[in-house]
Amino acid sequence: MKTISLDIRYEEYSSIEEMEHRDQALVREAIEAQKSSYAPYSKFNVGAAVRLEDGTFVRGSNQENAAYPSGLCAERTAMFAASAAHPGVPMEAIAIAGGFGHQVAKTPCSPCGACRQVMAEYQTLSGKPLSVIMFGTQRIWRFSKVDDILPFIFDSFNEK
Ligand code: THU
Repeated sequence: MKTISLDIRYEEYSSIEEMEHRDQALVREAIEAQKSSYAPYSKFNVGAAVRLEDGTFVRGSNQENAAYPSGLCAERTAMFAASAAHPGVPMEAIAIAGGFGHQVAKTPCSPCGACRQVMAEYQTLSGKPLSVIMFGTQRIWRFSKVDDILPFIFDSFNEK
């Protein structure tokens, strides 16, 4: 038996201006996307934006429903919209911004497990790292690949 440890690194920024320009633009898209969130039940509004390899931005926001499980998170709304409208174009980065009452929270908005799994699949499909940016007004976290927020990814392609 041996004990194995994982070393996960990520960047923390204290303001959007510290980030690379293309990531700044993506974060601004996610903040803008929060405005279209429909979350009358949880009142937690989330915006997400995907940047494709060709520079296209695709926005998504959480959409809730009276039949609660029928709703969808902002991240999956954005990724599914990106894949539906631009099939096969690799997703380079995704940014997330969320908080109650259409305000962006101080702490970064961290994606749920189901959204991480979907990120993992699009990353595997493209064969290139998909970076994940979690935005908060006081700090911003940037992970350079999905593996860093979802170690031991379930991947049906593993067996091939
Ligand atoms: N939600 C997202 O859209 N993304 C996340 O990363 C976390 C949660 C949504 C789902 C639901 O509409 C609301 O936020 C409260 O959980």
